[in-house]
Amino acid sequence: MNGIFISFEGIDGAGKSTHIDGLAQAFRAQGRALTLTREPGGTPLAERIRQMVLNDTMDPMTEALLVFAARRDHLQQVIQPALARGDVVLCDRFTDATFAYQGAGRGFDWQILSQLEKWVQGFGQGTMVQPDLTVWFDLPASVAAQRLSSARVPDRFEAQPQHFFETVACGYARRQTENPVRFAQINADQPPAGVWVDVLAAMQSRGYLL
Ligand code: TYD
Repeated sequence: MNGIFISFEGIDGAGKSTHIDGLAQAFRAQGRALTLTREPGGTPLAERIRQMVLNDTMDPMTEALLVFAARRDHLQQVIQPALARGDVVLCDRFTDATFAYQGAGRGFDWQILSQLEKWVQGFGQGTMVQPDLTVWFDLPASVAAQRLSSARVPDRFEAQPQHFFETVACGYARRQTENPVRFAQINADQPPAGVWVDVLAAMQSRGYLL
């Protein structure tokens, strides 16, 4: 069986986590081997970088370079081997988050991010590892802000004002325009059961789940 690489994206408060867990169960129930992982993170080295990125003050270029360094390790140690084994890889955020947060949100150069993407995700013969499918949980920043206000202690990103997330959401929209086939846009501004129906439909329409 071929591996399938699926990433999950959206602004903070979009509600990805429950649906990722639900999908993990659904794939396992249909007999698929699964790798459940996240970015920044997914390896011991990348998890240390995550702590820095989420907690330490730094300029946008440093932030971008750190998330790509973490990504390279994650791809080499976890994602590539899992896909080679034929696993379904469910990854909570991937490179679209870098374009949305460091690019749109922090204002770091989009073209340089594209170069870093080709470089870091390149594994010879002109191939670039990309998700087969990116599930984008789309909802207004104002709704996400209400959901986050009751949440735990915010990290550096969660502590940003609503305007930041409006800009990040524009970054995701731009990435979708640039990659229309890869993206499945889900209306996340509805009760969880409705979101789940749409997430399942995105899997079924691609033949990933029955
Ligand atoms: P998140 O995925 O929301 O995890 P949790 O549910 O544990 O809070 O947090 C990761 C944060 O990292 C999120 O605010 C977006 C940010 N991020 C970037 O800024 N750039 C990236 O490339 C990635 C992968 C994440």
